[in-house]
Amino acid sequence: MILEVRGLVRAFGERRVLDRLDLTIAPGEFVALLGRSGSGKSTLLRALAGLDPGVARLPARRAVMFQEPRLMPWKTVLENVALGLRRDDAREAARAALAEMGLAGREDAWPAALSGGEAQRVALARALVRQPELLLLDEPFASLDALTRIRMHGLVADLWHRHRPAVLLVTHDVWEAVLLADRVLVLDGGRIAHEVRVEAPHPRRRSDASLAALETSLLARMGVEWN
Ligand SMILES: Nc1ncnc2c1ncn2[C@@H]1O[C@H](COP(=O)(O)OP(=O)(O)O)[C@@H](O)[C@H]1O
Ligand SMILES: [Mg+2]
Repeated sequence: MILEVRGLVRAFGERRVLDRLDLTIAPGEFVALLGRSGSGKSTLLRALAGLDPGVARLPARRAVMFQEPRLMPWKTVLENVALGLRRDDAREAARAALAEMGLAGREDAWPAALSGGEAQRVALARALVRQPELLLLDEPFASLDALTRIRMHGLVADLWHRHRPAVLLVTHDVWEAVLLADRVLVLDGGRIAHEVRVEAPHPRRRSDASLAALETSLLARMGVEWN
């Protein structure tokens, strides 16, 4: 296992947001994490990113990406991607990661000049260039427009097929989870309350009836029902 967490507890004051949560992720596995707003998804991701102390057995090479790109405005795109990389070929590696994200030629741009989708691709390049064994994504496409989001789904699927990191994608978009993941988890009551494997081969399509059925049943798990 690339990640193994047992009995994880996180509390704010009296309230246990994560309550003896267990989670394992295999190398190269794509896991999506669903849950209502406030269910503790970001709290879990922060713990797994090593941003909080106390979680054992995290892989050394991990990268995290958030809903906002979190770029340094006073550094160029290339400098942002190469930031903190301790290798001799940092700039070349950053250049290659940007090219893979379709951003060749944008290396010298300033973050302020980027569209929302471009900025998220820079953030993804910054994660990718670290060659993570575990890639943690916290609603990375939530603030993008629908068309850009669809493009990002394709990009992430390609990236995962090429590099095969283990991925934990937090999302509240049930379709996004079903489209991309091998396994979908629902966080509720501080634990993984539900888990389902997605067997459909890639590339997955909107027209796949088994995926639509899975989407409906996951929505029901999250308390959304319609006829
Ligand atoms: N630093 C903090 N201090 C106090 N409460 C927090 C803190 N971070 C998160 N919480 C609370 O923990 C709960 C889970 O938050 P979060 O993990 O951000 O949920 P999600 O990402 O699923 O929307 C929320 O009720 C939130 O208000
Ligand atoms: Mg959150």
